[in-house]
Amino acid sequence: MHSISANDIGIGYETAKWIAMMGATVIIACRSQERAQNAIERMKTEFQAEKDKHTEGISETDTLHVEFMQVDLASLRSVKSFIEEFRSSGRQLHTLICNAGIAMHPQHYTEDDNELMFQVNYLSHFLIAAHFIPIMKKSGDDCRIINVSSEAIKVATFDISTIQGKQSTPENFDRLNYYGRSKLYQIMQMYKLNRCLQGSNITVSSIHPGIVETEINRSFTDLGRWKVFFGLSKLIGVTKTPFEGARTTINVAVNPQLAGIRDVYYSDCKPASTVPIARKLENQEALWEYSKERLKDYLPEEVIKELEDNTPI
Ligand SMILES: NC(=O)c1ccc[n+]([C@@H]2O[C@H](COP(=O)([O-])OP(=O)(O)OC[C@H]3O[C@@H](n4cnc5c(N)ncnc54)[C@H](OP(=O)(O)O)[C@@H]3O)[C@@H](O)[C@H]2O)c1
Repeated sequence: MHSISANDIGIGYETAKWIAMMGATVIIACRSQERAQNAIERMKTEFQAEKDKHTEGISETDTLHVEFMQVDLASLRSVKSFIEEFRSSGRQLHTLICNAGIAMHPQHYTEDDNELMFQVNYLSHFLIAAHFIPIMKKSGDDCRIINVSSEAIKVATFDISTIQGKQSTPENFDRLNYYGRSKLYQIMQMYKLNRCLQGSNITVSSIHPGIVETEINRSFTDLGRWKVFFGLSKLIGVTKTPFEGARTTINVAVNPQLAGIRDVYYSDCKPASTVPIARKLENQEALWEYSKERLKDYLPEEVIKELEDNTPI
């Protein structure tokens, strides 16, 4: 049985826990039911400890409202089942946090024939957002989508013709560049979605959490220079705990002063600058068209139409 130890805690765990501790109902969409249930149990224990300490801003409810739904972002079939499960529950949705991700993974293709980081970090979140936006439009005045991106966008390039990395061999596949690209797409999608959602009750933002000590390095433990980078970051004190890493997401999710604010990329809870290739309209449109094509079996015409109909001409 896999239990959750301190090192297993990711940014998503702290984000879900603190938002739930403030009184929200939180659904954690994860691939492992066992890990998710262990995480929920741990959150409940930690909630009780915060209540015992009389922590400010904590809900007075007896228990946390955190639930699990299954999703594997590396499988579009699984993402579709998750969307259907959520939709058939008839729930409202106020905040969608696209947090799950993998970094600097070796070259690998999913069952949908997409490069793994492209699909997990970006494309599957795109599919979820596209299907959930109609639900969010009916869920309240202030609904928010938050993409957990990364400063790795600064090393990314944009080129649709090499988006799947198939020109590379496993030996020369540039894992940092492809991680950066997947995080760049999240920013580009933010700009495009915001154009579609202009004047609606939904805003899209993105964030960089910082250099955070989590399990993110599990897919690049073979890359010595990254061990050195993380080791040095820790040594000079710039590494964050998962709780510190979750702060920016939590702030963007719950801060009432950010209602109606869109198109911002936050770092340390403050607006930060993205990169010119992300802001270029023709790149955003090219990515949008390519993404729709990759998702054509999962994105019915009416869903696309509802999204695109709001785009100002
Ligand atoms: N840590 C950093 O320094 C850093 C810096 C910049 C950006 N970020 C971003 O922050 C986000 C959270 O990362 P983290 O640092 O908290 O890393 P983490 O501890 O490795 O958490 C990543 C989460 O993504 C989930 N995940 C991975 N593949 C999945 C899949 N196919 N389907 C469903 N879920 C999947 C993992 O699920 P399992 O529990 O099942 O493995 C895990 O819960 C990521 O998007 C990452 O790119 C992190």
